[in-house]
Amino acid sequence: MAAAPTFYVVSGSTVKDIISDNRKQVFDAVETAYRLHAAGDSINPDSYFLRYPDKPRNRIIALPAHLGGSVAKSGIKWISSFPENTAANLARASAVQILNDSTTGYPLACIEASLISATRTAASAALVAEHLSPDRFAGSLCVVGTGVISRTTVEWLMLRCWKFGEVKLYDVNRGEAERFRKWLHEEYDVQADVADSLEQAVSGSSLIVFATTALEPYVADAKLFAHAPTVLHLSLRDICVNVILASQNIVDDVEHCLKARTSVHLAEIETGNRDFISGTLVDALEKRFALDFNRPRIFSPFGLGVLDLAVASFVLDAAIASKAAIAVPDFFSNSARW
Ligand SMILES: NC(=O)c1ccc[n+]([C@@H]2O[C@H](COP(=O)([O-])OP(=O)(O)OC[C@H]3O[C@@H](n4cnc5c(N)ncnc54)[C@H](O)[C@@H]3O)[C@@H](O)[C@H]2O)c1
Repeated sequence: MAAAPTFYVVSGSTVKDIISDNRKQVFDAVETAYRLHAAGDSINPDSYFLRYPDKPRNRIIALPAHLGGSVAKSGIKWISSFPENTAANLARASAVQILNDSTTGYPLACIEASLISATRTAASAALVAEHLSPDRFAGSLCVVGTGVISRTTVEWLMLRCWKFGEVKLYDVNRGEAERFRKWLHEEYDVQADVADSLEQAVSGSSLIVFATTALEPYVADAKLFAHAPTVLHLSLRDICVNVILASQNIVDDVEHCLKARTSVHLAEIETGNRDFISGTLVDALEKRFALDFNRPRIFSPFGLGVLDLAVASFVLDAAIASKAAIAVPDFFSNSARW
């Protein structure tokens, strides 16, 4: 007989400890989630956007998802983006992840999810960098938009043992890039240069990370990518349609990515087709198409709820096992039907 589960709360500090202590398992959980999704063992409906007409830069997104395989859970991430927070040194994004039992449907836990979200984005970016780059783990790095997502992405690139001959940083707010430069030096003893312009930052870099908060594309000069770099277009709306069309495009999920006025969505609107997309990350891992090292390879990940679910599920199991999850035993006190 099914009984209501114990409901758990998992705090941000517990999430941080578990992720730090289990990098390899987290990296594997992200790849497994992609593969389960590609094999059809997932349900990943459209994300739902709450937007404010009077404050168009703010939004809260709901990402419901279900994963089969050994995860066998459902859930939803509810993630806010309020870019003006950063002026008060408050992170732009904040989030919770609810996990549900897939037999009874009961919620199992509420988990602090801003780090889970950043982690799955960054681990997935590191996975992609390894598979789309001609020289794995080597080259020169350019970071455009030096915020939380870029920092987490660089952490994961370092964990995966990338060695960069040169690192260039660019942010519309130079102070942010300077802070990032200091952090890179203190944490990794890596010397980086803060560029005066996007052009200066991008030129010659073999791996380029875009993690800005741009709402409309502005990278319009295809010559900037003439050296055929690997581009991790995590912020989705930086690169103009002409540059997208001059590149090889890889996405996480075609249906998801061609929505919400992402650069690839704009390219579909302009061309009326999807021929400019070579395939998904899993297609690339499975070598279902040939990578073109003579053109830029641009990865645009919409960010799938199944990734949050996979990482959150791992975190919950580890938190329960280590007794770091906070049990709320009477949470479902009204669950008996009679
Ligand atoms: N694809 C995904 O799965 C995924 C997941 C999480 C976050 N994101 C996206 O990543 C982006 C960055 O998130 P974050 O938490 O690091 O934000 P953040 O606010 O911490 O950092 C963003 C930085 O970008 C800079 N910036 C804004 N516009 C710029 C421009 N045109 N050129 C250069 N720099 C610019 C800002 O000054 C800021 O320092 C957001 O757009 C977010 O939606 C994507």
